[in-house]
Amino acid sequence: MIEVRKLRKAYGGGALAQTVLHDVDLSVRSGEVLMLVGPSGSGKTTLLSILGCVLTPSGGSVQLAGHELMGVPEASLPMMRLRYIGFIFQSHNLLPSLSALDNVRLPLLLRGWSSGRATAESTELLESVGLRDKLVCLPSQLSGGQAQRVAIARALAGRPPIILADEPTAALDAHTGQGVMETLTRLAHEGGHTVVVVTHDNRIFKFGDRIVRIEDGRITEDTAHANA
Ligand SMILES: Nc1ncnc2c1ncn2[C@@H]1O[C@H](COP(=O)(O)OP(=O)(O)O)[C@@H](O)[C@H]1O
Ligand SMILES: [Mg+2]
Repeated sequence: MIEVRKLRKAYGGGALAQTVLHDVDLSVRSGEVLMLVGPSGSGKTTLLSILGCVLTPSGGSVQLAGHELMGVPEASLPMMRLRYIGFIFQSHNLLPSLSALDNVRLPLLLRGWSSGRATAESTELLESVGLRDKLVCLPSQLSGGQAQRVAIARALAGRPPIILADEPTAALDAHTGQGVMETLTRLAHEGGHTVVVVTHDNRIFKFGDRIVRIEDGRITEDTAHANA
């Protein structure tokens, strides 16, 4: 589902160019949950942003579902993102004036879904993350864990093949973070989504099928998880 070959990313140009990803190779299968770990500044967010069609690569090849990203004009990235990617952020990033239901509905309406179909799909997704009774709640009326589960439902809306999460449990206590990861990995495995989670939180490493470590823009370790 994700095929990265000799990926290079540099910020800036000319004499000031700084290469932050060097010849990164990475394949992630459909239905696989990959934990991407490494020290601060190692390039995790940059890599996730390229996979998420937010940043363009500087060199090499990146294929999402067989679709090459290298050379795609920046103006086309939002369409690619809408088609292939669901994002989960460190803080839930829900729109504060919209109910849980409307937060999940929005990306479907952007994809051109009818209102009725978007409501039915969003309701089903919120049920699947255990929030059937919170549909009309505003984000401010939800706990941190509940809000993050709405964010999971939103990322899954439209069933994009790839789900990317940058430190999704960083703002949560350990117990709540585990619950959020359980929900995410269960839905990923059920729906065959490919999931990449950036995390520092070693208590959630166990939810990954695989752990990939990145240091100074290079992959230094790639281990299948023993509990699989
Ligand atoms: N927009 C940017 N412009 C220039 N340098 C950047 C930018 N974003 C990140 N960097 C640099 O790229 C390197 C990797 O950053 P990042 O991908 O955010 O790492 P991580 O998420 O692992 O902490 C760091 O040295 C950082 O300073
Ligand atoms: Mg980061």
